[in-house]
Amino acid sequence: MDLQINGQTQAVPEGWQDETLLMVLREALGLVGPKLGCGLGQCGACTVLVDGAPQRSCLLPVAAVAGAKITTIEGLAGPDGRLHPVQQAWLDEAVPQCGYCQSGQILAAVALLAATPQPDAASVDAALAPHLCRCGTQPRVRRAVLRAAKAAGGAPA
Ligand code: FES
Repeated sequence: MDLQINGQTQAVPEGWQDETLLMVLREALGLVGPKLGCGLGQCGACTVLVDGAPQRSCLLPVAAVAGAKITTIEGLAGPDGRLHPVQQAWLDEAVPQCGYCQSGQILAAVALLAATPQPDAASVDAALAPHLCRCGTQPRVRRAVLRAAKAAGGAPA
């Protein structure tokens, strides 16, 4: 079974075909950006993009995503290492505290901006609300997403 991860084809190693996508990414393929938080689909730390949509990889059988385009935080920067605008905004707004939830948050923000390039604050909050953050970074997350939207063109709504 092959996966399309961050623009590259990667084979799922023998013995991992019945695992979740999160376990395959982290433990078999060494992509440790997606985090194991609750393991129950409730915290968002494991979020990756599957064909552009945020999905909780802790609940997703790897067999269900064969052939889909999977994006992890490791695949967001450009080939020259230039950060994705959302990543850059994250740095500019000094968003992370412990950082455990941020790869899921950033990928959710990328999906939001792809669908709604100029969201208002309420839309940002709604899109990021399923991503639990015990450090209380939500105000900085909101500012970072609006900053990334502004950087991509146009004034924030
Ligand atoms: Fe998947 Fe919490 S680890 S939602």
